[in-house]
Amino acid sequence: MQTTKLADNIYWVGAVDWLTRDFHGYSTYRGTTYNAYLIIDEKVTLIDTVKDQYKGELLQNIRNIIDPEKIDYIVVNHVEMDHSGCLPAMIDIIKPEKVICSKMGHKAMLKHFHQDDWPFHIVTPGEEMNLGKKTLSFLETRMLHWPDSMFTYAKEDQILFSSDAFGQHLATSERFDDEVNQDILMHECAKYYANILTLYSPLVKKLLAKVKEIGLPIKTIAPDHGVIWRQNPEKVLRAYNSWSQHEGQGNALIIYDTMWHSTEIMAKAISEGLNDEGISYKLINLQVNHRSDVMTDVLNASAIILGCPTLNNGLLPRMAGFLMYMRGLRPTNKIGAAFGSYGWSGEAVKLMNQSMKEMKFNICHQGLRIQYVPEHDHLKDCVELGRTVGSSLNKFIAGETIESII
Ligand code: FEO
Repeated sequence: MQTTKLADNIYWVGAVDWLTRDFHGYSTYRGTTYNAYLIIDEKVTLIDTVKDQYKGELLQNIRNIIDPEKIDYIVVNHVEMDHSGCLPAMIDIIKPEKVICSKMGHKAMLKHFHQDDWPFHIVTPGEEMNLGKKTLSFLETRMLHWPDSMFTYAKEDQILFSSDAFGQHLATSERFDDEVNQDILMHECAKYYANILTLYSPLVKKLLAKVKEIGLPIKTIAPDHGVIWRQNPEKVLRAYNSWSQHEGQGNALIIYDTMWHSTEIMAKAISEGLNDEGISYKLINLQVNHRSDVMTDVLNASAIILGCPTLNNGLLPRMAGFLMYMRGLRPTNKIGAAFGSYGWSGEAVKLMNQSMKEMKFNICHQGLRIQYVPEHDHLKDCVELGRTVGSSLNKFIAGETIESII
């Protein structure tokens, strides 16, 4: 039976989930993995577990290496159920000497599993633990992305077990970064960041600065989802550094929904204005694009132009849902504008402007409403809106500050 080795006596023992297509509202077209790691030493240590329904695969992978009952310690880097779902079953089988976690991890486990008699060992940040030949240390990463989150570092092998960070929802037969298509890997990595970590970007920045400051040598990054970064951990560190700055790439997104195509006609005319200003853009109809894919585009965009007609004095439900989702993730550093057709009351543009204002977007146009179906002169106004966004974007790229007009 083949085993997956990260270093001498350190193994991947997780599970590949080829089936999942939705992760609490995030589309996972390529499935995912739940990574767990086994260290064979005087104190045999399991780092993280898997989703409950995959405990059979976890046990099988462990049994290929060692009898699970020989495990001494279980490290719980993160209590979310995709990594801890089978923890009660594993603790029953293993009867570990220690369940190692952060202070907040302890609290979270009590609230999840209601077992105050587990042999918890709460680590202090920076604490070292000798396993025999190998040493572990623990880095608190509170709110990346849960209060309980922490990293575990294997000192001699320079492996960072990074929990959700640097992960990807990507089910593959391969386990390492150098074995998979790089474009797919980086796309899934960006999608993960956009949909899980955008909100916590200030903490990501602090964490990267701290890792640099303490000069932690990192040979391998072993996340809890997707492939392990053994060839090029620098690649994902550089990407996280860029994503955490919310650096756009100078492009614009026209994100819209439409009822009888009037708002769509406006969207196309706006794109002509962007074209006139030499701006690269993408038209994204929310009817055919999943919100989590749209957020992946938002991560790298510099301007967001929102379009929606008015329905019952409000927004179409897809736009309302998308705005709720995007507001929660709080992307920053974007230029914004809004447009939409309406029949009689016409509140949609105002509502989209309000949302963008809450997200501190730099709104460069007061917004454009057109009653029912646009005619030629209306389309000129749409082109003008596109040009206004495009010229603001060009100034922004040149380093000028764009003040919001709303
Ligand atoms: Fe992969 Fe936050 O769980």
